[in-house]
Amino acid sequence: MPASGSCIWRFNILYWQALSRWEQATGREYEQALPGGESDARNTEAVHEMILELFRVWDELDARHALPQELYVVELGVGNGGQARTWLDAFAALDRGHGRDYYRRLHYLMGDYSAHVLDRARQTVAHHGDHVNGLVLDATRPLLTLGFLRGKAFCVYISNVYDNLPTDEVASIGGRPYLVEVRAYLRDEDAARIAGQHHIPDSALAAVIERLLRLGPDLLAEAAPERFAEAGHAVTLWRDVWAALRLQERYVPLEGLDAYRLSPSLTGEILRPLLGHGGDIRMHASNGALASFEGTLPLLHPFGRLLCHDLFLTEPAQYHAGFFGPGKYDGSVVNWVNGPLLQLIGNRRGYDVQIAPFSARPGSNVKTLTAQVRD
Ligand SMILES: C[S@@+](CC[C@H](N)C(=O)[O-])C[C@H]1O[C@@H](n2cnc3c(N)ncnc32)[C@H](O)[C@@H]1O
Repeated sequence: MPASGSCIWRFNILYWQALSRWEQATGREYEQALPGGESDARNTEAVHEMILELFRVWDELDARHALPQELYVVELGVGNGGQARTWLDAFAALDRGHGRDYYRRLHYLMGDYSAHVLDRARQTVAHHGDHVNGLVLDATRPLLTLGFLRGKAFCVYISNVYDNLPTDEVASIGGRPYLVEVRAYLRDEDAARIAGQHHIPDSALAAVIERLLRLGPDLLAEAAPERFAEAGHAVTLWRDVWAALRLQERYVPLEGLDAYRLSPSLTGEILRPLLGHGGDIRMHASNGALASFEGTLPLLHPFGRLLCHDLFLTEPAQYHAGFFGPGKYDGSVVNWVNGPLLQLIGNRRGYDVQIAPFSARPGSNVKTLTAQVRD
């Protein structure tokens, strides 16, 4: 099946749903697995830059009596809320100096698909009271939940999330297009070892893993106490399976690029200029990132910006020279994001999309993508 449909994404969801269980077991927080060991989202210098730019836009709109009463800022994929806290604390402090009382009008909306993560983030920013709301939502379909914000968000912020969204890969070999299909599997010896360690008959292992993915470690332990005396045992099974999980892949010929559906509104034809004529190449379709990006643009106020820190490729030719995922970060999946594809789509929709080095750490693999309505 295409990689976006693989069960590795169910493991990825489980990781965020049951994050504290995983962290308890490993003794380390998820941020330590991010590039640089902590989220760039918390870099104060970059946050100040972003807020001062917002103030500039708001001052200008205010001077023309065009500034709405409610000032919306959205963050998607909030993790532990560290970015939200850094941002809101800085906002409140800078606003005091700026003297326009924007903080009073500010609504900071935090969206994440993990209720557990969202709870943690809410606690982190509890001191900002009613200025913050948390919403359970799927970042690949932001309009479903945030449709009421269409045209109103001054900033949509998303960091280290696009690289964590499902993606397929397509290839051009000898000038012919292929879809890369994958199958997640355990080698026989790994399956036998894991089954033995957890006292599960070999023939039942697949069904137990399926239940783990469906229920999570806590409910699984409740549902099968004879096998898992406590949730921690189910977490050990989860970690053992994840560590041993591998991907097999094959190249399936496509009748043409238009035979591949990249998103509900786009076929693989859009990839043609990126696949180029420079020899064999394989690249991410970045389906999840693309869906999120396309769904987020309509939320932006005409003077609003989408701001995204992530592992972006900036040139299709980079795909000739390296491996960019899928890979494992602790319990989650990571793929670099096809930046030129997002730029292409954004440009077609009338947005200016730039990908620049992350100003606070220019040498880093993390880049900053910004999108705003073209002048
Ligand atoms: C690597 S963390 C990044 C957290 C934070 N932005 C940072 O930079 O530290 C990814 C976050 O995205 C969330 N996430 C992943 N896929 C999502 C989806 N489809 N919809 C909503 N949230 C998602 C996870 O729950 C997690 O909070």
